[in-house]
Amino acid sequence: RATAERGPTIKAVPELEKATVHMKNPEHVQRVISALRKEGTDKLQVISDFDMTLSRFGFNGRRCPTSHNILDNSRVISEEGRKKLKDLLHYYYPIEIDPNRTMEEKRPLMVEWWTRAHDVLLQQKILKSDIAKIVRESEVMLRDGVNTFFDQLHQHNIPLFIFSAGVGDVLEEVLRQAEVFYPNINVVSNYMDFDDKGVLRQFKGPLIHTYNKNNAVLKKTEHFQLLSSRTNVLLLGDSMGDLSMADGVANVENILTIGFLNDKVDERRGKYRDAYDIVLEKDETLDVVNGILCYIL
Ligand code: C5P
Ligand code: MG
Repeated sequence: RATAERGPTIKAVPELEKATVHMKNPEHVQRVISALRKEGTDKLQVISDFDMTLSRFGFNGRRCPTSHNILDNSRVISEEGRKKLKDLLHYYYPIEIDPNRTMEEKRPLMVEWWTRAHDVLLQQKILKSDIAKIVRESEVMLRDGVNTFFDQLHQHNIPLFIFSAGVGDVLEEVLRQAEVFYPNINVVSNYMDFDDKGVLRQFKGPLIHTYNKNNAVLKKTEHFQLLSSRTNVLLLGDSMGDLSMADGVANVENILTIGFLNDKVDERRGKYRDAYDIVLEKDETLDVVNGILCYIL
């Protein structure tokens, strides 16, 4: 790789030399990182996806579960329910990540997937009091370096907005069990609604899926208004749909987007490199994110 175009800032973040790192425009990355460092912690906010961004995609050649999969694979789901959920995953996941279909084509199909999967979950009498055990018994794993990531943001009082199309109750519990669910974190996701006996009765709206993570589903949250002075954004995602997560931030001055390219790497490389400032190919760690934070904080 040509190092001539790597300015002093990029050299100051050794993690950017990792073989997993790809940048279409290193000079742009250089400029944004310098600006983030210069303008400091008061101006910064971090916006991140959860599943397959903060959580691991794979471990020892096996897929790790998403927050939905944590429920799908748990013992509270009947065998029939589990089969239905697996069939839905095998049908819709290839559509979700298909680089040859537009987001417009995918959107109605994602609504279908989430709606069908939630309907199956609603038939299972899931108890609120079971969630902690379900998470504890699952194979979920967070990315390597996750403690450094959460600790740095917490110590510097930097707001972390987790915008997830997964299941809010489940991902919060994952963070709680990892002891990283700090007060600087705000989650918007699909939350469960339990009846007075603590049984799941519906999902609270609006439904969030991979391709509507934007202002449209944030109408009711004042979150970004409260952070109006934080005009610098670090955005982390693993899907092309994650790039719109910062749309609700008014007056963005500097934004650095980092995309984890986990699956179908060869087929999706071109689109990811065009869309994300930094693409991390098959990188199960938060090393690069932590290296950048360490430099700018
Ligand atoms: O947190 P994030 O927005 O990444 O969560 C969405 C992910 O959950 C999607 O990438 C999708 O593959 C996965 N999913 C799932 N089961 C469903 C619906 C979505 O595993 N029923
Ligand atoms: Mg994701």
